[in-house]
This record gives sequence, C-alpha cells and structure tokens, in this order.
Amino acid sequence: MRVLGIETSCDETGVALYDTTLGLRAHALYSQIALHAEYGGVVPELASRDHVRKLLPLVRQTLAEADLSVSDIDGVAFTAGPGLIGALLVGAAAGRALAWALDVPAIGVHHMEGHLLAPLMETNPPKPPFVALLVSGGHTQLVLVKAIGDYQLLGETLDDAAGEAFDKTAKMMGLPYPGGPELAKLAETGAPGKYKFSRPMTDRPGLDFSFSGLKTQVLLAWQKSDKTDATRADIARGFEDAVVDTLAIKCERALHQCETNQLVVAGGVGANTRLRAKLAESCAKLRGQVYFPRPEFCTDNGAMIAFAGALRLQAGQVETSAITVQARWDMATLSEV
Ligand code: KG4
Ligand code: ZN
Repeated sequence: MRVLGIETSCDETGVALYDTTLGLRAHALYSQIALHAEYGGVVPELASRDHVRKLLPLVRQTLAEADLSVSDIDGVAFTAGPGLIGALLVGAAAGRALAWALDVPAIGVHHMEGHLLAPLMETNPPKPPFVALLVSGGHTQLVLVKAIGDYQLLGETLDDAAGEAFDKTAKMMGLPYPGGPELAKLAETGAPGKYKFSRPMTDRPGLDFSFSGLKTQVLLAWQKSDKTDATRADIARGFEDAVVDTLAIKCERALHQCETNQLVVAGGVGANTRLRAKLAESCAKLRGQVYFPRPEFCTDNGAMIAFAGALRLQAGQVETSAITVQARWDMATLSEV
C-alpha cells in the first residue's frame, strides 16, 4: 500500500510517500523558518498561508522523486492535530480532497503518534511494550506504549515544553530564531560546570516536568553576567546539561516503574546530541536500548505521518470524509492498531 503523508501542524510543510512493502520512497520538507524569523516565533496566519502555497508543489515533487504518479496513491494520511488550527486545516482539506478525488481512504494522524512511531521506520525497530520520551516544541511527555495505538501517559510538563524552554532561553540570550538548535550549537563551546542550574522536580517522586523556573534561573544568570560570547556559551552549556540530566533522570525512573529497558525518544529535542548520548548511557546501565529516529525525522516531517497513517490504513481503519482537526488531542484516546 502506497500512502501519501502530509504534515502541516506548525511551521514546516512535510510530504512523504511510504510504501508498506518497500518502505519510504520519497519525502520533501519546506521549513518556514525564514518567514517567521523576523517575528521571533511562529505567526499562525502566515504559517497557514505558506502551507497553502507550498503543499501541492511538494506533493508533486515527492511523487516525482518516487517515480510515481498521483494515481499510484492507495491512501492519504494527514496530521489532524494537535497543532495550529489554520495550519492543520490546510493539510486536512488537501488530504481529504485528494483522497476523495482518487477514491482512496484517508486518515487523520495524531502528530505526536507520528513522532512516537518515527523510530519504527529505522532498521532494528523497537517492539512494544516500551517507554517513549516525546520532547518537542509543544510537548514533553513520558508515555508507556503497551501496543501501537495503546498509550498511557506517565508524566508531562506542568508548564513549558523542553523545546519551548530551549527556544525561550535562546531568545533571552539574543540567539536567532529558532533558538533550540542554535543554543545547542553554542553549548558545544561552553565549559561544563561553570554554571550549575537546578534539575527541576527530580527531588520528588513522579514523572512530571517543569522547565519554566529553569528559564528564569538562566535569565538571572545572564543578566548578572559580563555578557561576553564565552559566558553565553558557558550558560548555554549549563542550561543544556540541566535539561538533559532532568530528562534522563525521569526516563530512568519511568523505565524502572514500567519494568522495561527499552526507551524510544522522539520529537525535535531528540535531535540534541548530548541528550542522545546521555540516554544511550542510561539505557546501557539497564542493559537495554534507546531508539531514536535519524535526526532529520526527529523534527517535524511528512515521513512520520505517512508511516503512522499507513499502519492504521493497512489495519483497515476508515474515517468519514468530514474535514476535522483538533488543536489539542489526548493521545490516550487513540485506538489500538
Ligand atoms: O518536533 P518539532 O520539530 O516540532 C514540534 O512538534 O514542536 O520540535 C521543535 C523543537 C523546537 O523547540 C526546537 O528548538 C527543538 O525542537 N530542537 C532542539 C534541537 N533541534 C530542535 N532542541 C535542542 N537541541 C536541538 N538540537
Ligand atoms: Zn512535532
């Protein structure tokens, strides 16, 4: 079955063609970073309009790269939430319309399920049950994956998501948008231990997170500092280490609680090199394994949506042709595949 995947939940237009027999055939991504940069963050209306402009050219490009024509598509998967409503509607309307015109099934995919299942596209994929750490710009969650589609939330952030904390901290220190990867790059040159920030909520039981206090600690340190480039790098390193340690401590706790040593990490922050190394260490201690998507599939992309949608379409899940999207959507409400 050849499934066209469409991702338009935020500031990236992603399209991919996933073949359930041959694997990923082609994918294309257009990032709106330059469009939003001057505003220092995503402007929802501009995002929606740009998805309208870029989506169909990307569909054509993806089909051409896969050496397929539109009539070769057997199903369509699009992100139906969570995300920006206007942006989601662009992908949902185009996806449903295309499927209707081709007389093939279409399915709305949960964006975070897309992230969560992305490591299953790699060789040597994990098998449920496993614990998943979802760390993106909008989410920080620990989830027990009992089966594909059967998700139990173990803990989540009470305020900022990890990626959001990266982005806001970077902005505070004058780094360009999008801050997360910029801050991570800067941290590479910073001295470890020069700035020591707290590991929030690790001193009490439970699997929830809180990153907004950490951001304030960094702001105070930055304001009091000499504001040189070297200091900025040292603070960036201190912040990154605090986030990485906090995430690792909670992941280890979740693995103990769920009696598994299999950890899946997905979402934009999963591209962070130091986090990847730290979690590999955590799992090695437990004689287990950590699974990541390749870095380009950590951040938003069409491939993960095509893949997650393909699993559901292949299992015969059908939906009406109504165009519905959700800004918020609890993953625990999804059905098992
Ligand atoms: O999954 P994603 O592309 O979009 C959402 O669904 O939110 O994640 C984007 C988030 C942003 O907050 C970005 O700053 C962060 O992931 N991010 C990183 C890195 N690459 C992306 N954070 C830390 N280190 C990175 N290397
Ligand atoms: Zn995402």
